[in-house]
Amino acid sequence: MKFSIFHLLPVLLSVAGAYRYPIPATFNVLSYGALPNRITDNTKAFLRAWNDACEHHGGGRVWIPRGMYMLDSVVFVGPCKGPVDFVIKGSLEASSNPSKFFIDHWIAFKYVDQLTVGGGGYLLGHGGAGWHYNDCATNSRCRPLPVTMRFDFVTNSRISHIRSVNSKNAHFNLFACHNFNMTNIRISAPADSPNTDGIHIGSSTMIKIQDSIISTGDDCISILSGSRDILVTGVHCGPGHGFSIGSLGGSHNKENVTGIVIRNSTLIGTQNGLRIKTWAPSLPSLASDIMFDDIIMVNVNNPIFIDQQYCPQPPCNRRAQSNVQIRNVTFRKVRGTSSSKFAVKIQCSKHVPCKGINLVNINLAYRGPEGLVASSCLNVLGKSYGPQLPSGCL
Ligand SMILES: *[C@@H]1O[C@H](CO)[C@@H](O)[C@H](O)[C@H]1NC(C)=O
Ligand SMILES: *[C@@H]1O[C@H](CO)[C@@H](O)[C@H](O)[C@H]1NC(C)=O
Ligand SMILES: *[C@@H]1O[C@H](CO)[C@@H](O)[C@H](O)[C@H]1NC(C)=O
Ligand SMILES: *[C@@H]1O[C@H](CO)[C@@H](O)[C@H](O)[C@H]1NC(C)=O
Repeated sequence: MKFSIFHLLPVLLSVAGAYRYPIPATFNVLSYGALPNRITDNTKAFLRAWNDACEHHGGGRVWIPRGMYMLDSVVFVGPCKGPVDFVIKGSLEASSNPSKFFIDHWIAFKYVDQLTVGGGGYLLGHGGAGWHYNDCATNSRCRPLPVTMRFDFVTNSRISHIRSVNSKNAHFNLFACHNFNMTNIRISAPADSPNTDGIHIGSSTMIKIQDSIISTGDDCISILSGSRDILVTGVHCGPGHGFSIGSLGGSHNKENVTGIVIRNSTLIGTQNGLRIKTWAPSLPSLASDIMFDDIIMVNVNNPIFIDQQYCPQPPCNRRAQSNVQIRNVTFRKVRGTSSSKFAVKIQCSKHVPCKGINLVNINLAYRGPEGLVASSCLNVLGKSYGPQLPSGCL
């Protein structure tokens, strides 16, 4: 017989019933004076509940019952004396007051091990009140706005069944996290909301994002320098700017990115599909061992796109070259429709041409005024295998 946790469950439950362990002690924010009236700031009550849960030997549970809670920016700091569950049944609402905007987080967790965030609740970022401040395309005095939920140095943790709506900046930001799973996350913000990345990952290892729906104004998922062993599977993206590795090689980005798998996912009406972007000129680094597999696209503007001349704002120096080496990248079973003629664009650096790029079973159709679907390759070494539409340029 295969032995699993399910066989142990009755034993665990009866032990828990008898000794009230390992079920963690519960710290209800209402007992700390939280008022779900949409007006009162609940930062103090939440922090006190967090501190008690965090200090509780054997673990604690912060419990946020149904209701709508105003919450200013807050940091929940560890290390804690045991695992902490942060259960959001209600809706947390960010401030719409501009004097509270210019800080890097709304809700942050730092230095926590074995954190679980869940409960089916909502994070309402009220981004509409601030988007014009961080739109650098239209506002030269743009300033960064708070990320809805930041995880910094959070390890062996997970977040599931949370909805984030209208963040002011990115919805979720993971920095220096390790062994962190995200499942059943729903993210939404309008297609034209600036800088509202869905999930932004940097300097993190062993991250898994699964079975989630992301509709937003910027990248659905972006994976930045220093990230390793990242798996994305069963994610629906759109609208948004697609799945992005990079931008790499910028001023604070000299670490490598390696071991990325993006699989069994769908992109609908996005600006990009599967993209690797690096600055030019750039610091040297490496992006390698990247697999995009089993991807469906519907009306995606740049379905397969390696861009080593990434420059979103002028002035751009078109003669500068990137020093980020891109190596061992496979696009496999990528199918659907492109909304532009060049469904495959692989534009690598003259200094460090891409190596080991594989296109396997690609089927991307284009029906539009620009004629037949096409591919374009620059400074790239690679191979194609199996049927290719557009016909390969490798
Ligand atoms: C994340 O998921 C993987 C694979 O499903 C599992 O092995 C790992 O223990 C999970 N990590 C956490 C912290 O839940
Ligand atoms: C693919 O993702 C969907 C969710 O979008 C999930 O229901 C399905 O089980 C996944 N299939 C595989 C083979 O992982
Ligand atoms: C990045 O990878 C290159 C090539 O494998 C290696 O020489 C370099 O040390 C790595 N950089 C970092 C910061 O790990
Ligand atoms: C290329 O990357 C894949 C993962 O995408 C890895 O399994 C494989 O070992 C790598 N190949 C080389 C030659 O490094």
